[in-house]
Amino acid sequence: MYAQMVRSDAASVRSIEEMEPRERAFQQRIDEGQKIEPKDWMPEGYRRTLIRQISQHAHSEIVGQLPEGNWITRAPTLERKAILLAKVQDEAGHGLYLYCAAETLGISRDEMYDQLHSGRAKYSSIFNYPTLSWADIGCIGWLVDGAAIMNQVPLQRCSYGPYARAMVRICKEESFHQRQGYDILVTMCRKGSDQQRAMVQNALDRWWWPSLMMFGPPDTDSVHSAQSMAWKIKQNSNDELRQKFVDETVPQAKYLGLVIPDPELAWNEERGAHDFGEPDWNEFLAVLNGNGPCNRERLGARRAAWADGAWYREGLMAHAHKRVAGVAAE
Ligand SMILES: [Fe+2]
Ligand SMILES: [Fe+2]
Repeated sequence: MYAQMVRSDAASVRSIEEMEPRERAFQQRIDEGQKIEPKDWMPEGYRRTLIRQISQHAHSEIVGQLPEGNWITRAPTLERKAILLAKVQDEAGHGLYLYCAAETLGISRDEMYDQLHSGRAKYSSIFNYPTLSWADIGCIGWLVDGAAIMNQVPLQRCSYGPYARAMVRICKEESFHQRQGYDILVTMCRKGSDQQRAMVQNALDRWWWPSLMMFGPPDTDSVHSAQSMAWKIKQNSNDELRQKFVDETVPQAKYLGLVIPDPELAWNEERGAHDFGEPDWNEFLAVLNGNGPCNRERLGARRAAWADGAWYREGLMAHAHKRVAGVAAE
């Protein structure tokens, strides 16, 4: 998920009988599948949880451009370069839609940027890993965008209108991203040299476990899920989505002739699903808390971009003030 650890401000989910009348009416609307819109009354916890989730999601889209941006100048052909450029631009667009959706809940964009730049806001742990070869770009599209789709398709039905609507276009673009990644790998694995195939296997070995971590901690440790589920901000549990991702990805890896780096991975006839090993949750927490291989670099790049753009933002404001002054003088 692009928002892996969202606190929901609720120790436990209250029953409908325990709620005051307007909260009860709000919960009933959600239960009936109605959308909540920005001007509707909503519990403070719902508002704060959504702000956290949508802004984490937005930050992830923006920071997520950095690992791939590294390869725009190194793409192997002009066509691959144009495709990657378009993909990275899409991610900027996703970030901007989502900042807009969060703004409807009463937080300003400056505040969200400040939370990111000061290190108070989180973004997906996956973007703190380095992109060492061109095969990494294929793996990111295939696995990272693939995991994002798995998480984001249900969000199109989330209870908050602006978030749900933003997800519709985002999901369409994510499926293009996933295919472009897989296409890179098909070319390398099925038409490439042994060396290229080895490059892809090496990339898969590095990206597999961090991709599984994108779904967040196991359900047993995921203390904030129940309230988010009741509010329909979240519709599936972390483990459910992780399972779905593994089941869909295994045959795709087989087609490429790759080995998933998990000795416990096996088809379970009884469950009709794959059994698989446990990601290293200590690594997940370390990366989430700022100690992954590229956390400092990523945050440094965002801070520098913000500082470098100051003259431009000031210019726009000066121009806007001049225009307002001009209108007032007429
Ligand atoms: Fe995206
Ligand atoms: Fe994407």
